[in-house]
Amino acid sequence: MQQPEHPENGAAQHYIKHAIVAQVEAGLLAPQASASPKYLYDVLGSRLFAAICELPEYYPTRTEAAIFDRYAPQIAKAVGVGATLIDLGAGNCAKAAKLFPTLHPSHYVAIDISETFLHEAVAGLRQQFPHIAMTCLGMDFSSELELPNTIGRERRQFFYPGSSIGNYTPLEALKFLLRIRKSITHDNSAAQDRTGGLLIGIDLIKDKAILDAAYDDALGVTASFNLNLLLHLNRLLDADFDLSNWCHRGFFNPQQNRVEMHLEARRDVTVRWKNGGLRQFVRGERIHTESSYKYTQESFVALLEQAGFNNIQTWCDPDQWFMVCHAQGGA
Ligand code: AVI
Repeated sequence: MQQPEHPENGAAQHYIKHAIVAQVEAGLLAPQASASPKYLYDVLGSRLFAAICELPEYYPTRTEAAIFDRYAPQIAKAVGVGATLIDLGAGNCAKAAKLFPTLHPSHYVAIDISETFLHEAVAGLRQQFPHIAMTCLGMDFSSELELPNTIGRERRQFFYPGSSIGNYTPLEALKFLLRIRKSITHDNSAAQDRTGGLLIGIDLIKDKAILDAAYDDALGVTASFNLNLLLHLNRLLDADFDLSNWCHRGFFNPQQNRVEMHLEARRDVTVRWKNGGLRQFVRGERIHTESSYKYTQESFVALLEQAGFNNIQTWCDPDQWFMVCHAQGGA
């Protein structure tokens, strides 16, 4: 039965919606227009991202999976059996589930903004792995990582695959790593837990042509993923973006060590949205929609060290395109 909405919840929802709209408008009205990459991931966007992971040009997913397969025993030794495995951005939980038979976690905590998909995925896993305790948490872990008391403080092993950390700037990435470390080392504890850690996947700097193709594939799936953001903004703002006026740009910027995605106006365009909002774009003007930072092995290890991690172990594919790291968080 549908519960009547609590008036305070209604007010909170209204406030959140208002804040989101204000933030999106500010991005569109800035001299260099931008939109947060989180608007790439509505239901269709999440499906398009899953399709990207299957593309021949998008090497990160399969390269990372091959590293996990090849080095499973060494990775399991670093993580240790019986840990609380905390999966950040779990999605369909498939990447973590593949590690269960080698890592044998005692508790699996799946975290994602979209709780709906999470419950379905975890329900399936509970049947397959009945001896592993499982918890689903719907939260935006990019802004806070305060976990409920039901998640044990000891042997927290965070799992953050897919080079998702690349979608933060290096400074934001450092702050994020510091939050993970804080969650592992529990403040005020004399006996800091040395067995907590982080297992993370990182995309490495490589030939520009390979990176350009990975973010501008021949089938145009990444172009659709990027353009779909405009459909999402149309719904959010009641805007009138016409997709035929825009094209996808995705390329490696070697000065900034990042792949950039933009939407570029094919002609002079005026976009209107509710309450009289309006932005004129001249032909060739862009909306920056995503940055995907790439690291060298050394630069990412240095970032982990700066965040206070230690005992860092790394594993790469033979071409050195992608790296998996395990780092201990204890003092
Ligand atoms: C989710 N994230 C790590 C992907 C990346 O490679 O930065 C998102 C993506 N954007 C375009 N293709 C994939």
